[in-house]
Amino acid sequence: MFDALHTLNVDLHASTQDRSYPISIGRGFIGSEKFWAPVVAGRGVVLVTDDRVGQIYAATLKASLGAVSQLTEVVLPAGEAYKKLSSIQTILDAALADKHERGSLFIALGGGVVGDMTGFAAACFLRGADFVQVPTTLLAQVDSSVGGKTGVNHAMGKNLIGAFHQPRHVVIDLETLASLADREFAAGLAEVIKYGLIRDAAFFDWLVENVRHLKARDNEALAFAIKRSCRIKADVVAEDEREVGIRAHLNFGHTFGHAIERLQGYGGWLHGEAVAAGMVIATQISVARGSLDEMALHKLLLFNEAFGLPTGPPADILAADFLEAMTSDKKVTSGKIRYVLLNKLGEATITDRVTEQEIVDVISLYST
Ligand SMILES: NC(=O)c1ccc[n+]([C@@H]2O[C@H](COP(=O)([O-])OP(=O)(O)OC[C@H]3O[C@@H](n4cnc5c(N)ncnc54)[C@H](O)[C@@H]3O)[C@@H](O)[C@H]2O)c1
Repeated sequence: MFDALHTLNVDLHASTQDRSYPISIGRGFIGSEKFWAPVVAGRGVVLVTDDRVGQIYAATLKASLGAVSQLTEVVLPAGEAYKKLSSIQTILDAALADKHERGSLFIALGGGVVGDMTGFAAACFLRGADFVQVPTTLLAQVDSSVGGKTGVNHAMGKNLIGAFHQPRHVVIDLETLASLADREFAAGLAEVIKYGLIRDAAFFDWLVENVRHLKARDNEALAFAIKRSCRIKADVVAEDEREVGIRAHLNFGHTFGHAIERLQGYGGWLHGEAVAAGMVIATQISVARGSLDEMALHKLLLFNEAFGLPTGPPADILAADFLEAMTSDKKVTSGKIRYVLLNKLGEATITDRVTEQEIVDVISLYST
């Protein structure tokens, strides 16, 4: 039996075709045939997972899909290194070999890497097939599974090849978090607290006050944190699906975070960890500008410390390298870097007017 705790909706009916979809948050979805029957509706299924997640959850999910016209399972090696075009080729080859049609349903069972790739493969398959996200990391549950950004990395940079392709359903089974490593869990929490910083001061305070419950992975606390995060992401995506405006607020901490990932050669910190450090930098600049109360920075540092997240950039990164790495971020618009800063706790703003000196001042606080 499944236990659906919350259902949210991502409202995307501005265009001619209604592409709105539900986000189901609860327990036991993966193992419930009753849940999957109407979702799959007897269609062919291309199930994509990675070799870690697949080992734990794929058999249960497959057994719950019920009578499907054709079932193809693609198991990719786990990890960001495999988020590349050749993996998309592997998925498409398998789907075509098994003679799937456009009506087949792609299911992404895994973290953000599997989700991004499955969505992109679905977008390309016969010019666009439906897909469902079954995110199994906290980061994927609160961030990457919602919003329709799909794609792969290129040697020139992260996520450079991709498409906007919205899922039909996001299925968040809280039980999958039980097997997630502490470090991956903490990396997901960095994206959770981001929502508080940019959009909801009360949620930020709630997170800081509930560190103990979150550390214990208390079900109720997690369900609330995930629901609130998804609500915020869904609202932002509904308002600005293609990131021409407010969706860029979600990149808070990411310009600095991407620079850290780039300088570390993508083998160092996890994405969420780099974003955690990036948010500290952006928060510190906001405080230095006088727009944000220093208490917010203090609380963010306490939160990061509690979960073993970075409280600043790596000490061996020099300010000059940082500036150089930031200019090669793909979110640079017409040569100008767009920074997301905080007007106040719970309110973000975009500006291209951050001086190099402001950045140097903050980075220098950390470099050895
Ligand atoms: N599309 C978007 O809007 C968006 C937003 C943010 C991040 N992303 C992308 O998401 C990716 C990062 O996602 P991620 O952090 O989920 O990484 P990931 O998909 O690599 O998963 C991390 C690791 O955890 C394992 N894992 C996943 N679920 C597990 C579980 N329940 N139990 C045990 N192990 C489990 C995976 O096998 C993997 O080894 C990046 O590629 C990033 O670019 C996309």
